[in-house]
Amino acid sequence: MGRARLGVISVAIAGAVAFGGCDASENADVDRGRALFQTNCGTCHALAQAGTSAVTGPDLDAAFAQARSDGMDNDTIEGVVQKQISHPREIEKGANNYDQVYMPADIVTGQDAEDVATYVGSVAGVPGAKPPPLGTPDQVFAEKCGGCHTLEAGAGSGVGPNLADALQGKDAAFVKKQIIDPNSNITEGFQPDTMPQDFSQQIPDKNLDELVDYILEQVAGGGA
Ligand code: HEC
Ligand code: HEC
Repeated sequence: MGRARLGVISVAIAGAVAFGGCDASENADVDRGRALFQTNCGTCHALAQAGTSAVTGPDLDAAFAQARSDGMDNDTIEGVVQKQISHPREIEKGANNYDQVYMPADIVTGQDAEDVATYVGSVAGVPGAKPPPLGTPDQVFAEKCGGCHTLEAGAGSGVGPNLADALQGKDAAFVKKQIIDPNSNITEGFQPDTMPQDFSQQIPDKNLDELVDYILEQVAGGGA
């Protein structure tokens, strides 16, 4: 940290301010941006509101906390993030701890990049930011699992197996293990590394147990 890094950040800010005129953030969807952040950025960056804690890249709350308290607004942070996504800055050797890793350019583009940047701009460095409370188990399932899995018996599979069928006869310990460590046992006919690997970070343990109970109730009851 220190002088060198602050210098880099102010250069980035100057660029962002210059681009301010063509900002389209009014059309951005922060909920979508949050989900995109979790899959595309949360693998390297910690950000409290997203519930991510990876340490490959800088902690984005720490990165923007000082600037925010100095008065930098959401739009300006958004601009910095946009610029970093399309033109990741050169890593200064020895300037920080990240000089072994490079952030790839354009991990997200177009509307996706807009949504991610607007989302990060709205939460990074906000004091006390934390993830919104999770809903009921059926809402958690719909939000985090329903895109790939169904609980409707006989309905066929999606990207992931039909859980009403695949989990017949399985117990809570097995189901929980498959959620937090999906690659520990790959379901035949499906791809490894497809299911997010960080549900133990996204879903607090209490909610996870409730989710498992909910899933097993649906399995026992012949599906939702
Ligand atoms: C492969 C790991 C990796 C991924 C994935 C990644 N980043 Fe990064 N990111 C880094 C590293 C490493 C740095 C530090 C670069 C440096 O210090 O010069 C960085 C720096 C940043 C910074 C500047 C932080 C600061 O200290 O000023 C922002 C903002 C950022 N990333 C946002 C994102 C967003 C948004 C995404 C998703 C679209 C993303 N990153 C995906 C590794 C990653
Ligand atoms: C991006 C798609 C995707 C999402 C999102 C996803 N899964 Fe999966 N899931 C898969 C795939 C693909 C498999 C099969 C490969 C494997 O075993 O990892 C799988 C396997 C499983 C299994 C093991 C099934 C068996 O036959 O043993 C369970 C249990 C499971 N998922 C539960 C969940 C739950 C609960 C969520 C939400 C918290 C979730 N998954 C979210 C894709 C996904």
